Amino acid sequence: MSSVAPSPARARKSRALSGTVRAPGDKSISHRSLILGLLAVGETRIEGLLEGEDVLATARGAKALGARVERLGEGSWRVHGVGVGGLREPLETLDFGNAGTGSRLMMGVVGGSPIEATFDGDASLRSRPMRRILDPLEKMGATVVSAAEGGRVPLTIRGPERAIPIVYETPAPSAQIKSAVLLAGLNAPGETVVIEREATRDHTERMLRAFGAEVSVEPHGPHGRLIRLKGEPELKPAAIAVPADPSSAAFPMAAALVVEGSEVTLEGVMINPLRSGLLTTLLEMGADIRLSNQREEGGEEVADLVVRAGALRGVDVPPERAPTMIDEYPILAIIAAFAEGETRMRGLHELRVKESDRLAAVHAGLLACGVEARIEGDDLVVTGEGRVPGGGPAVATHLDHRIAMSFLVMGLGAQNPVGIDDAAMIATSFPDFVELMRGLGAEIEIEIGERA
Ligand code: S3P
Repeated sequence: MSSVAPSPARARKSRALSGTVRAPGDKSISHRSLILGLLAVGETRIEGLLEGEDVLATARGAKALGARVERLGEGSWRVHGVGVGGLREPLETLDFGNAGTGSRLMMGVVGGSPIEATFDGDASLRSRPMRRILDPLEKMGATVVSAAEGGRVPLTIRGPERAIPIVYETPAPSAQIKSAVLLAGLNAPGETVVIEREATRDHTERMLRAFGAEVSVEPHGPHGRLIRLKGEPELKPAAIAVPADPSSAAFPMAAALVVEGSEVTLEGVMINPLRSGLLTTLLEMGADIRLSNQREEGGEEVADLVVRAGALRGVDVPPERAPTMIDEYPILAIIAAFAEGETRMRGLHELRVKESDRLAAVHAGLLACGVEARIEGDDLVVTGEGRVPGGGPAVATHLDHRIAMSFLVMGLGAQNPVGIDDAAMIATSFPDFVELMRGLGAEIEIEIGERA
């Protein structure tokens, strides 16, 4: 199990931020590019791959399962895949570090194939629920050879000779569960069906199609979808251009909103409707965000966003929006602290099982920084007063990159500096975060951790 020495960091009130930046490649699409590259026969080319720790763990996983994975230059990668039927049994434990998405999607790959593999990760990953992935995989014929208590990693899965196609309704709105079942379904004869009551990010469906699989999607109920995958396709390699990650762009965007006088342009941000709940919410709060140059990149709609600081008001965020902005609640809570009035974020139960219990971590951090906030059931309520005191003890980040970045952004606009106990995990999703933010004028001091 890899570990990185903690590196405390601190952000202080900054002068107006300005500039044009591009957030790194989308994490969800980056993981899927490598995994589908492994499952296609031949050469997949990827441009704009996120080279964060999480995705690098998936690259190592794809290699361990038989692909040839090469880095050609910055963000430019080549994967020589072996096909759904050609996977190699890995000799060593697959260490996914902090990466929930990489590990869970790869469990789907292994759980549908006649190989055995052991999965492990860091303390955060070891605390996250995996039963939600193992349950459908067992229905498809996989065996969980061993697992830590509650079906957590470290765990070993053996897939069947041929997976059993199933009809599966996901018990939680989770693209990871949906994707694991679809990836296992690639090795099943016949049709694998996933039903979701609330639509979640659809990158797996879109990308499976781009790699030549037959996938159909139809509406299901008021907010849901029904997805059908025809099993045993011959996946063909693809050329993928990874768009900028809206979940990462959210941090410079938030900083531009809360640091007085700022104007920042974010280039090429993916605006897939299943990922743009934060944008919708910020516009409701009165944020000055203009979309321009809308176009398609790598099969996804993208736009340049011009973001200007200004007064914001509290809003009520409905629970059905949660799947479209699930990773953005920590940073929304920070923005809400700078707004005037109450922001109520409803239906956040899934936040409890992310890289940390994000509901608890955000709440505790807000209180430590002098912001009025409370948890009511699954809702987080933040009372903004237009200004944030900051200046408390270092915020505990619990090995969670998004908690770390969120509170650093808070420090840029708060009256007093905001410190965090550890910035090391930021490298899992946004390795150049500090550099990019400093380029806009952000004052962030950081101690770089050493690899243990
Ligand atoms: C992801 C799905 C979401 C999200 C994660 C990425 C994906 O997780 O939080 O960061 O790429 O499928 P859940 O499926 O657990 O909601």
